[in-house]
Amino acid sequence: MKTIVFKGITALAAFLISFISTAQTNRLIVNADQGSVIINKHIYGHFAEHLGRNIYGGIWVGPDSKIPNEEGYRLDVMKAIQKLEIPNLRWPGGCFADEYHWTDGIGNPKDRPTMINTHWGGVVEDNSFGTHEFMNFAKKIGAEPYITGNVGSGSVDEMSKWIEYINFDGVSPMSNLRKRNGQDEPWNIKYWGVGNENWGCGGNMTAEYYANEYRRYATYARDYGANKLYKIAGGANSNDYNWTEVLMKNIPLNMMDGLSVHYYTMTGSWTDKKSATVFDRETYLETLRKAAGIEELIERHGAIMDQYDPEKRIGMIVDEWGTWYQVEPGTNPGFLYQQNTMRDAHVAAISLNIFNKHADRVHMANLAQTVNVLQAIILTNDTDMILTPTYHVFDLYKPHKDATLLSHHLVTEEVSYGKEKLEALNVSTSKSPDGTVNISIANIHPDKKIDLDVVLRGISAKSVTAEYVTAPSIDSYNTFEKKEVVKKAAFKDFKLDKDNLKIAVPANSVLMVRVK
Ligand code: AHR
Repeated sequence: MKTIVFKGITALAAFLISFISTAQTNRLIVNADQGSVIINKHIYGHFAEHLGRNIYGGIWVGPDSKIPNEEGYRLDVMKAIQKLEIPNLRWPGGCFADEYHWTDGIGNPKDRPTMINTHWGGVVEDNSFGTHEFMNFAKKIGAEPYITGNVGSGSVDEMSKWIEYINFDGVSPMSNLRKRNGQDEPWNIKYWGVGNENWGCGGNMTAEYYANEYRRYATYARDYGANKLYKIAGGANSNDYNWTEVLMKNIPLNMMDGLSVHYYTMTGSWTDKKSATVFDRETYLETLRKAAGIEELIERHGAIMDQYDPEKRIGMIVDEWGTWYQVEPGTNPGFLYQQNTMRDAHVAAISLNIFNKHADRVHMANLAQTVNVLQAIILTNDTDMILTPTYHVFDLYKPHKDATLLSHHLVTEEVSYGKEKLEALNVSTSKSPDGTVNISIANIHPDKKIDLDVVLRGISAKSVTAEYVTAPSIDSYNTFEKKEVVKKAAFKDFKLDKDNLKIAVPANSVLMVRVK
């Protein structure tokens, strides 16, 4: 039927029809009056491991450093993190956690023993940043601490005593030791990880073996006073669904609150990682396709969890995610220092949009990592600091924290290079407690502005504000010489007409549009 109509029309009419259909391609319907799931603010969490220049030189320079600091914490970095209002910070690892012995990191720093950081560059760890330094830092930046205990090379007794040291309010050997080290009050930590990647660097265990170990460690991870630990079991390597099945089956559900999963966006492969800054458009789409691949993992691990925990009480904790490229040329391969381009901003936007969408199961996520490591939000040199494109996306996405997830329907054109093809727009929608509707949009098209028609159902919109992150090209990044090539700015290219909002979404941009 369509063909017959087209045969009879003029070239001009055909052009008009194709124009109209193109103009209608990009459409978003937001159901502002529907939604019950809260996007847990902990989805916007971060991760700082003793790895490279993340802690040392990044967060901590020590009180005697000539770099401006507050009690040893690097001031520029601390202020930038404070501004981001991060909900939680995971520490001390990663792989480092399973060779970390917490008693080495307490007491007078001059008396603390050193160790070799065998995972990360074989450097000497002087333990000057330990439990007190971490807990104080978490307090200063207003983040909840999330500690990962040592299962791989530690003992049940060691982990149990660490929790007693941190949380017990009475008189006991560990609480007395804490007091002697200058901290009278217990810190009452909530988030506690029982090991990390125990299928690999955390002990090369089988799922069955780890499930038993988890039961033993979790038994002696005690609650003190009114404080209830939120215990997180070490989860699967990416798509190892058997790991999730075995843990859900063998660990009594009242012994665990969260189950972690790790997912890295690798361009190329583990053995042939590609550059963080030099890439063509097909590789760019490959990276973004792989980033979006986390959704399949969430759905499949989630489906297994649903069988055992249909109420979704147990959180899926994506406590390591982000891009992993070749290290920057000339840097220590064990330090995982990489640049961060506008491509990473899109990875962050796509990943956070997916976590929001699955907020009924994903209760926490932690970007890997905070300073100078992998998809860092901040890069430093000796005296200076830059904010990465990824930092700006986290800044932009603040309104989604603790907002109600809204359903939406998106129709978007595609973008394609070589054998890669993806939807050009990627969206998440939520409603803040004050009724403001938040629409985050990534336009991954490198050079095409996209006119998006938004229908706002269930809200009488009166005003719109917007901000965006963009850059001259998909491989743009900030340097110590040019710090604001990629930055956040006010955005005005939209028009509100009753419940219809037209947005001219710039090429290669991430937007946050807020409708009241
Ligand atoms: O984030 C870097 C490393 O990646 C972590 O230490 C480990 O858990 C993961 O394999």
